[in-house]
Amino acid sequence: MSGTVYLVGAGPGAVDLLTLRAARLLGEADIVFHDALVDAETLALAPRAEKIAVGKRCGKHSTAQRFISKRLVDAAKKHRVVVRLKGGDPMLFGRAQEEIAALGAAGIRYEVVPGVTAALAAAAELSVSLTRRGLSRSVVFATPRIGERESLSSWVNAVRSADTAALYMAAGDAEAVKRELIAAGVSPETPVALAENVSLPGARVEAGVLDELPELAQRRGGGPALVLLGEVWRELAQKIGVSPELLAQTA
Ligand SMILES: C[S@@+](CC[C@H](N)C(=O)[O-])C[C@H]1O[C@@H](n2cnc3c(N)ncnc32)[C@H](O)[C@@H]1O
Repeated sequence: MSGTVYLVGAGPGAVDLLTLRAARLLGEADIVFHDALVDAETLALAPRAEKIAVGKRCGKHSTAQRFISKRLVDAAKKHRVVVRLKGGDPMLFGRAQEEIAALGAAGIRYEVVPGVTAALAAAAELSVSLTRRGLSRSVVFATPRIGERESLSSWVNAVRSADTAALYMAAGDAEAVKRELIAAGVSPETPVALAENVSLPGARVEAGVLDELPELAQRRGGGPALVLLGEVWRELAQKIGVSPELLAQTA
């Protein structure tokens, strides 16, 4: 008899943004494999569990990912409740599908528990709705990050055709993000916000226009950050942005 592996969303960081189901499973867990982004307070909810940090902060190597999947399978053969705790929601940029495939192939029972993804937590924290009547009817979650042996994705087209975009794992490549979007026809004056450490004590936000993205990104600290684009960010950019004059001109 093997145990069950729960792929659990840890939310953006603040422990009280966990779901009740996630908190219950952490309390029952025998072993927890967690991402580096998962907060210590969240891990404290699993007092009886052995805790194992796995993976890098952003995007893991395929070999490292295979190793994590194997460890989950092995753990399920020894323990009743195995929790794989992932930042935000497991099904968004969380490599969940590889783990689901490995567990399925090994005949291990699994369940996915959703979490609050960083973009939705950012929208809440900044009081900016990602959709808005007359302004935004579509939202895209995208990343410019390309894995090894992956072909170029269409993230630029996806961003171009959506009213609002949330870019994950993009702040470190702000210069290239700006260049590629502008080359694809996105206006350099598109409002942007950069939200760092959303829901955590070190939370901060910068806002301005796409043309200024590299400067905004340079000012961030070392925490995880989202790049948010689209008209819905205009008011925030006007309020706190570095170039209110430029935004006023384009309003
Ligand atoms: C590997 S992805 C994981 C995303 C996660 N599954 C989710 O749903 O939020 C990591 C990226 O998520 C974003 N991120 C995660 N937590 C964040 C936070 N608290 N504040 C801002 N961005 C965050 C950053 O863009 C970071 O580079």
